[in-house]
Amino acid sequence: MIDKQLNYIRSKTDFVPDIAIVLGSGLGPFAEEIEMECIINYNEIPHFPVSTAPGHKGRFVFGKIDGKKVVIMQGRVHLYEGYSPQQIANPIRLMRKMGAKTLMLTNASGGINKKFNIGDFMVLTDHISTFVDSPLIGKNDDSIGPRFPDMSEVYSKKLNKVIFDTAKEMDIELQSGVYIQFKGPNFETPAEIKMAKVLGADAVGMSTAIEAQTGVHCGFDVCAISVITNLACGISKTPITSEEVTQTANRIAPIFKELIKKTVGNF
Ligand code: HPA
Repeated sequence: MIDKQLNYIRSKTDFVPDIAIVLGSGLGPFAEEIEMECIINYNEIPHFPVSTAPGHKGRFVFGKIDGKKVVIMQGRVHLYEGYSPQQIANPIRLMRKMGAKTLMLTNASGGINKKFNIGDFMVLTDHISTFVDSPLIGKNDDSIGPRFPDMSEVYSKKLNKVIFDTAKEMDIELQSGVYIQFKGPNFETPAEIKMAKVLGADAVGMSTAIEAQTGVHCGFDVCAISVITNLACGISKTPITSEEVTQTANRIAPIFKELIKKTVGNF
């Protein structure tokens, strides 16, 4: 199936990206600001999962950022849309097949760490994916990656250093920490967030761990940055809404875009 998808992409463009970027909620417009070379809508690609989440457009944008060749997923798919972890893995593997070697994931997440403020950026140092099924369950395709991949450094220390060095140059303060993925679509309960905190999580979201696991499995160097769009349930004094998440993401997008651009330039 993935070879058929790659053939379709190749019938439209021979662009070979070095860096794959996944844009999270509210961050999508960034894709329109790069030096674009080609756009391919997900719904044209055979058997491809199509995003239905708010703020997710659903297309690959190919182009250059600061001379670096990138493919951007403008919109991702989530478990809560009814997709399986294996379907979520599909776009990540396809971008690897296109030739990309570095995977940069972005997302909106809820802050659990008491030191975090709304609008902060958190560089992921690790994740807890225990509460979602692995995308690697099922028959393993040894040509993609090993049956039992090591997960001791999912988020590349080398890439994280580039992110931190870039942020320093730009005078942007970054947080770092552990991301926990839950299935959604409901936000968590206070008891679930208390549990997540005890387990060592600093931020919570509904997307990234599955994509990062897939990325490691298929040989990507992976990094990820969360925008803390809200304080997690029980830490926040007010109920969490999708509007709050989108509003914060939109508000912070201009700085976030600059950080991504400059970081990609420094990779
Ligand atoms: N929980 C889960 N996912 C999220 C949150 C949250 O609080 N904020 C943004 N995505």
